Amino acid sequence: MNATAAVAAAVVPAAGRGERLGPGAPKALRELGGVPLLVHAVRALIRSRAVGLVVVAAPADGVAEVVALLDGHGLEDKDIRVVAGGATRQESVRLGLAAIPAEVGIVLVHDAARPLVPVEVVDAVASAVRAGAEAVVPAVPLADTVKRVEPVPGGPEPVLDTPDRATLRAVQTPQGFRRETLAEVHAKALAEETAGGADALPPVTDDAGLVERFGGRVVVVPGHEEAFKVTRPLDLVLAEAVLARRRAADAY
Ligand code: CTP
Ligand code: MG
Repeated sequence: MNATAAVAAAVVPAAGRGERLGPGAPKALRELGGVPLLVHAVRALIRSRAVGLVVVAAPADGVAEVVALLDGHGLEDKDIRVVAGGATRQESVRLGLAAIPAEVGIVLVHDAARPLVPVEVVDAVASAVRAGAEAVVPAVPLADTVKRVEPVPGGPEPVLDTPDRATLRAVQTPQGFRRETLAEVHAKALAEETAGGADALPPVTDDAGLVERFGGRVVVVPGHEEAFKVTRPLDLVLAEAVLARRRAADAY
């Protein structure tokens, strides 16, 4: 890769088990339209001219398999590196980030589990970082009303309050960062974890959450309904339908 500060690298955490999807291969290797979710996700990233390098954090025991899979889907001539992922998403991202050359100034983090993200979202996130934001997340308004509850397994759960829906966003990936910002918050989170003890903070579920935790500024840009995450079996049904619609549209 001709790595300059203007070209972004992408980290793709793909080391999860996919427990909520049910029994089977690790989620990133499960197929959508005959192609693994991970391959869809990587293709979606490299379709963007902003992305010059992709680092995949694969299941720790599946690095060779993932390399073969990417090669087998025509990605062998792209600048793609595969590293072993970790026990948590956060650790997988940190390990992927460590494999990015020092001169790369912008890093996107994109879930393998979001195979259908449109290239416009990738471009929009990368250009917002290029324009000066230190952390950028794509997001969409919520369809459902949301309530905060006191969790009770099996319920009923007392409702605490109802946040104003107009101020809520469902956050997607790719999330984009100034590289130093992302590296710094991951290093701080690791240091906190190592210090551990009763003060250990709850894990965050996205990278922007780490930036927020350490006082950084995160901005939202418009996401896309097709950038949804494949989490449960029904999501795979929806993803197949979206893909079929795209393929039909391309045939005309
Ligand atoms: N991920 C990862 N390393 C982990 C856990 C998750 O790289 N130790 C990745 C997943 O592969 C996925 C993304 O983080 O691309 C988002 O996580 P999620 O949707 O929760 O995927 P899984 O953890 O695989 O699913 P589940 O939580 O249902 O087991
Ligand atoms: Mg998970």
